[in-house]
Amino acid sequence: MTLKQMPESKMDTGASNIDSPDIPVERGVSSEHGPGAVVFDDVSFSYGDRPVLRHINLKIAPDEFVAVLGANGSGKSTLAKHINALLVPTHGRVRVEGMDTADAQHVNDCRRCAGMVFQNPDNQTVASIVRDDVAFGPENLGLSPEQIKQRVDDALATVAMRSHANDEVYSLSGGQKQRVAIAGVLAMQPHILILDEPGAMLDMRGRRGITRVAHELNDQGMTVVLITHFMEDALGADKVVVLDQGEIAMEGAPREVFIDAERLQELRLELPFSVKLAEDLRNQGIQVGLGLDEEALEEELCQLFLNR
Ligand SMILES: Nc1ncnc2c1ncn2[C@@H]1O[C@H](COP(=O)(O)OP(=O)(O)OP(=O)(O)O)[C@@H](O)[C@H]1O
Ligand SMILES: [Mg+2]
Repeated sequence: MTLKQMPESKMDTGASNIDSPDIPVERGVSSEHGPGAVVFDDVSFSYGDRPVLRHINLKIAPDEFVAVLGANGSGKSTLAKHINALLVPTHGRVRVEGMDTADAQHVNDCRRCAGMVFQNPDNQTVASIVRDDVAFGPENLGLSPEQIKQRVDDALATVAMRSHANDEVYSLSGGQKQRVAIAGVLAMQPHILILDEPGAMLDMRGRRGITRVAHELNDQGMTVVLITHFMEDALGADKVVVLDQGEIAMEGAPREVFIDAERLQELRLELPFSVKLAEDLRNQGIQVGLGLDEEALEEELCQLFLNR
């Protein structure tokens, strides 16, 4: 399918009016080998003799949006780095679109399939001008100058940064730099986007903007793995995975995971604000839903206020 242009109204800054990169993802293909599919098969990983991941079994379907939560040091980044073969298992196997990441002949393909954006946008810049920075990846693919230009323009449009193409990267805000980092990954036309705490250095608006871009890309067929410390960012995910000391402690839809406040507390995590608020209100006898949808809760509260 074709990744359509990001609706301008949903972005924080003005997007240009052109198509975004073609990403040949067949939505609904649930095969473990399909475009964007990832399978962790009994994966353990140690740094030296220090175990960091333990017996991870996880299936990420094509076009799934997976949020990964967990306390500091629980292994989230280590797990993410296994998806694009930056790390390979000490035991077990990770397959990306059916390719074994430990197989040397597939490493480059795995990295092209799965693009990763890190926490600090400043560490991901390779050129001083936005356009050159985004072009860096495609330039290494042996594409023609016209193809590279098209990919750069498309990727910048997707993150609503096309009007900044000729700006100096240093002059951008943190959120804008993070969008450029995402554009750099999108210009490689990956099937899987891995975001490792992309909003950690941003204010709430910037963070939400990045999460929204991730959802837009997912809606258009890209598999997204979002690592976050912000529970709110996980509410819209298809699946939530909670890591604890390198093991999967919880896995399920947001409504399955966020129903268990006690277990989350044991794992040193809190309920998303809207879920906690809804729970407190229900405990006070005020009938509202679970609060899994922030906007729906807002609507319910407005109705209650109007009907009081
Ligand atoms: N390069 C490394 N060498 C040795 N140990 C490491 C290395 N990177 C991470 N670790 C250890 O592996 C464990 C998991 O780290 P990881 O970065 O995956 O956790 P995380 O869940 O991403 O944490 P955070 O929320 O702080 O980002 C930690 O105990 C960490 O100290
Ligand atoms: Mg981390």
